[in-house]
Amino acid sequence: MGWVTGIVRERKQWTERLFSLRVDAEVEPFKAGQFNRLRLEIDGEMVGRPYSYVNAPDERPLDFYLITVPDGPLSNRLVQLEPGDPVELMPRATGFFTLDELPDSRDLWLLSTGTALGPFLSILKTSEPWDRFENIRLIHAVRKAEELAYQDTIRPFVERDPQRFQYIPFVSREPCPGGLEGRVPAAIAEGRLEHHAGLTITPEHSQVMLCGNPAMVKDTSDVLRARGLERNRRRKPGHITTENYW
Ligand SMILES: Cc1cc2nc3c(=O)[nH]c(=O)nc-3n(C[C@H](O)[C@H](O)[C@H](O)COP(=O)(O)OP(=O)(O)OC[C@H]3O[C@@H](n4cnc5c(N)ncnc54)[C@H](O)[C@@H]3O)c2cc1C
Ligand SMILES: NC(=O)c1ccc[n+]([C@@H]2O[C@H](COP(=O)([O-])OP(=O)(O)OC[C@H]3O[C@@H](n4cnc5c(N)ncnc54)[C@H](OP(=O)(O)O)[C@@H]3O)[C@@H](O)[C@H]2O)c1
Repeated sequence: MGWVTGIVRERKQWTERLFSLRVDAEVEPFKAGQFNRLRLEIDGEMVGRPYSYVNAPDERPLDFYLITVPDGPLSNRLVQLEPGDPVELMPRATGFFTLDELPDSRDLWLLSTGTALGPFLSILKTSEPWDRFENIRLIHAVRKAEELAYQDTIRPFVERDPQRFQYIPFVSREPCPGGLEGRVPAAIAEGRLEHHAGLTITPEHSQVMLCGNPAMVKDTSDVLRARGLERNRRRKPGHITTENYW
């Protein structure tokens, strides 16, 4: 399997654990929502893991949004990279967490935890969601308010069309002025999310993309299935499209 060598242009530290890596590399065209891999040599072994693109397909440098996880072999090395350092990538991106896998619908719900905000930013930077969906809701669930990163990227989406687009932050471990507190599945079950969003989730009108913590993806899918939404499959189109980060 061939790899290409990229060069780190910038590491932006958002919090003690959250950071973005901006990388220059010759990679093939990709679709918004797809992921590449980053690879480094660690103790004589090559260690590579998947990372979603945050940048739009036509945007450079490549942008990746990461967290250092406790005892995580690769993330704790990637966070040490400095401008000018090499990092390996795949020439070609992969993944089916893309809008062309979704049937048409009126409303698009994008629900993420932590660093899984990334693929949704890439998608929102393209024209496709704006051309295909009447209403868009971006939900970002984090433990602490300081983890609500990429505000400068999100603000233009709100300004572009505040009637059609709403950004809804969720903070689970401290108060969240202007956003919602607690967890996404409970907020859906209680009707708090839809009340805040001014929009109802229904099989008739909604496509829901879920990304990040597999427990959030599962618990939210369960709540949505109880409402009549079904998993989206190529042979049997439904309403729920997912990507687990671990
Ligand atoms: C399709 C796909 C796309 C991904 N995209 C991203 C991305 O854009 N940004 C990113 O930070 N990670 C992403 N990941 C996770 C990433 O590949 C690594 O697992 C992560 O960077 C940790 O690597 P590690 O070697 O340090 O620890 P690992 O041994 O890989 O992971 C150790 C543990 O850390 C936890 N963990 C892993 N990733 C995360 C995470 N993102 N947030 C919270 N807890 C986590 C899990 O409990 C996991 O079991 C993605 C994973 C997949 C499958
Ligand atoms: N973020 C930090 O400050 C911090 C500090 C120390 C260590 N870490 C470590 O860093 C790693 C990643 O942390 P993270 O905060 O980015 O990711 P995370 O643990 O996936 O949490 C992100 C958000 O997802 C929510 N969530 C978790 N399970 C859910 C479920 N079943 N349904 C709905 N929502 C759910 C969390 O709510 P809850 O808060 O209710 O779980 C939180 O709001 C973990 O290994 C963690 O131990 C993080």
